[in-house]
Amino acid sequence: MSEIPAIAGGTPVRNSLLSFAPPLIEKEEIKEVVDTLKSGWITTGPKTKRFERMFSEYVSSKYAVALSSCTAGLHLALLAIGVSEGDEIITTPYTFAATSNVIIHSSAIPVFVDIDEESLNINHNKIEEKITERTKAIMPVHIGGRPCDMDKIMEIARRHNLYVIEDAAHAVGTIYKETKIGSIGDLTSFSFHAVKNMTTAEGGMITTDNEEWARFIRVNSLHGMNKDAWQRKGSWFYEIVSAGYKYNMTDIQASIGIHQLEKIERFIELRKKYASIYTEKLGDIEEIETLSPYEYGRNTYHLYVIKIKPDRMRITRDKFIRALREENISTNVHYIPIHLHPYYRERFGYKKGDYPSAERVYERAISLPIYPAMKEKDVLDVINAIEKIVVYYGGQNV
Ligand SMILES: Cc1ncc(COP(=O)(O)O)c(C=O)c1O
Repeated sequence: MSEIPAIAGGTPVRNSLLSFAPPLIEKEEIKEVVDTLKSGWITTGPKTKRFERMFSEYVSSKYAVALSSCTAGLHLALLAIGVSEGDEIITTPYTFAATSNVIIHSSAIPVFVDIDEESLNINHNKIEEKITERTKAIMPVHIGGRPCDMDKIMEIARRHNLYVIEDAAHAVGTIYKETKIGSIGDLTSFSFHAVKNMTTAEGGMITTDNEEWARFIRVNSLHGMNKDAWQRKGSWFYEIVSAGYKYNMTDIQASIGIHQLEKIERFIELRKKYASIYTEKLGDIEEIETLSPYEYGRNTYHLYVIKIKPDRMRITRDKFIRALREENISTNVHYIPIHLHPYYRERFGYKKGDYPSAERVYERAISLPIYPAMKEKDVLDVINAIEKIVVYYGGQNV
């Protein structure tokens, strides 16, 4: 087998590096943060409350609690439904580790169901095979902003008396049929990490229609205190009603979030526009597969994943990524399936071959840059770079 060079040769398509997913922060966010910094109240307070009200209105949920991360939201959601030691939570192996780590933090056991290779989401047709007497909840993840089939998942959950906690880290603004993600499952957790559909640098929001869970999450996001400092309005007295966590959002983060949320529809329109350019221009290239369009609502395209066809190229996925980097294009890989990580292999005995669809996607996947701070010219550069590499390396694999 001959070693092939990683670069397609010639002058790079771009002369400066295109980042993978920088945030788009504009003057409104900066002004609001400065206002907060000067206000004398920088931790959880009036801006966090305003952001929560705006968010629950946006997704049409009764309650929204702002947190330090989506991970914190998923953890508190599991505690809110009363997960106890040895309970099983069904989820996907094709996700970020946070989804299953929190199951372990709650003393429960993650049970993986393989994915549908078209949508990259959990294969709902395989969920029932994994339900046992210990199953407590299903935790679907809307990968890349494309919604899971929530009618099917909710129907299975209701029939088996299970809760549904949605990992909506990628799904601010995602629409399933006619409903925004955030008001379908029992609890939904969103991420505002720097690369997400909207950002607060780090941050998360949990939404629910259940008053008791919302109260539980609020109290347990701040040490288990019955009143936060803003609610106490200068009074010193509080009581600890549970051994809670430190998962609250600050008003500095909320200041960014308020304005990002005002702009979310513009951000999503840009993501959709760039996704449709990728699909149109890359769709005919024999050596790669593009995402199929989603027609039953709105995919917000947090990610745009292409899959290279290894039998049609003289280059592996990893070398394809290196070749793109030589063209000054940053990419990423979503996701290394959870069961292949050392912790999960060692603790649960997982091995290669356990979830073949997740593994097949992982071995071929490349996530392309897609974000509102990009210009159309950047999208065309990515396409040109891919075309250049495909021309250079197309043909039989070696
Ligand atoms: C699918 C998924 N779930 C959960 C998370 C955790 O989000 P956060 O960083 O806000 O805790 C992420 C973050 O990358 C994610 O991609």
